[in-house]
Amino acid sequence: MDQASKLRELINNRKSILKEISSDDDNNTKTARVICVTSGKGGVGKTNFTINLGVELSKLDNRVTIIDADLGLANIDVLLGTVPKYTLYDVIHKDKSIDEVIMNGPNNMKVISGGSGVLELVDMDSEYIKQLIEKLNDINKYTDIILIDTGAGLSNSILSFVLSAEEVILVTTPEPTSITDAYAMIKTINFKSKDKKIKVIINRVESTKEGHIAFEKLNNASNRFLSMNLEKLGYVFDDSNVVKSVKKQQPFTIEYPNSIASKNIKQMALKILNDNDFTISSASDGFFNRLVRFFR
Ligand SMILES: Nc1ncnc2c1ncn2[C@@H]1O[C@H](COP(=O)(O)OP(=O)(O)OP(=O)(O)O)[C@@H](O)[C@H]1O
Ligand SMILES: [Mg+2]
Repeated sequence: MDQASKLRELINNRKSILKEISSDDDNNTKTARVICVTSGKGGVGKTNFTINLGVELSKLDNRVTIIDADLGLANIDVLLGTVPKYTLYDVIHKDKSIDEVIMNGPNNMKVISGGSGVLELVDMDSEYIKQLIEKLNDINKYTDIILIDTGAGLSNSILSFVLSAEEVILVTTPEPTSITDAYAMIKTINFKSKDKKIKVIINRVESTKEGHIAFEKLNNASNRFLSMNLEKLGYVFDDSNVVKSVKKQQPFTIEYPNSIASKNIKQMALKILNDNDFTISSASDGFFNRLVRFFR
């Protein structure tokens, strides 16, 4: 099969899954596939990875929404050069609708900014929480895949996003400090949720071999001490086009589609779409319900 027909097959496959889900779930809105991107150490490339993975997934005919859940620093806004008028904070605390916070990103992607203090829900009554979950579930109407960019590290808020999402992608570089912090993150996720599958990407590698060695280090430790297997999503080369496009506030997959980093991300997008081993919940027990429950 040539590459184009492979792609078509992939896309059709995915559409039929979504159709099946929405038809046996008539009374309930279909929910999007939720993938949370996280890391142990900061600055390893999560935000760049998330945006560019989103671009590649949308090139392959998926409706993508990116949620910037890095609740302190507004990362995605800076990388895309857009300023949000309202954030999720305004949806939760100020009665704004989801439509009012959605920004248009490149390639028809939708971008939603978190805003700080977003999930301080402690004092809200249950009727309000119910309405809030309904509002958040509106995102599913526009979306096939939700990508969540979290901050780094082991804070409760980050873990809540990670544990609520159906799928987790952990980003690390080959540096020993980054690997050690990645392992600490894996250990914590595994402690809280034994069966959670973790996909790993090694960013900024100089060679495939370097990526391989870094992945094996993490996977061997996880096998040995946690009896868990990591999934290798792939490696992204250290590529000066990434830095250049950060300066231009444009995704490198759009500015430099033929760069090595862009090709690496494209491969991962295909791999993700080819992976049918994931669950999509109905809206009533979906991602946003789990997330809000964490903050109560
Ligand atoms: N593949 C790459 N090749 C070269 N440089 C890269 C690559 N990936 C990331 N970088 C560099 O690393 C910087 C940090 O990346 P990014 O902001 O995506 O990290 P992050 O993990 O989101 O950081 P934070 O934890 O602060 O949110 C980028 O501005 C870029 O200069
Ligand atoms: Mg970031």
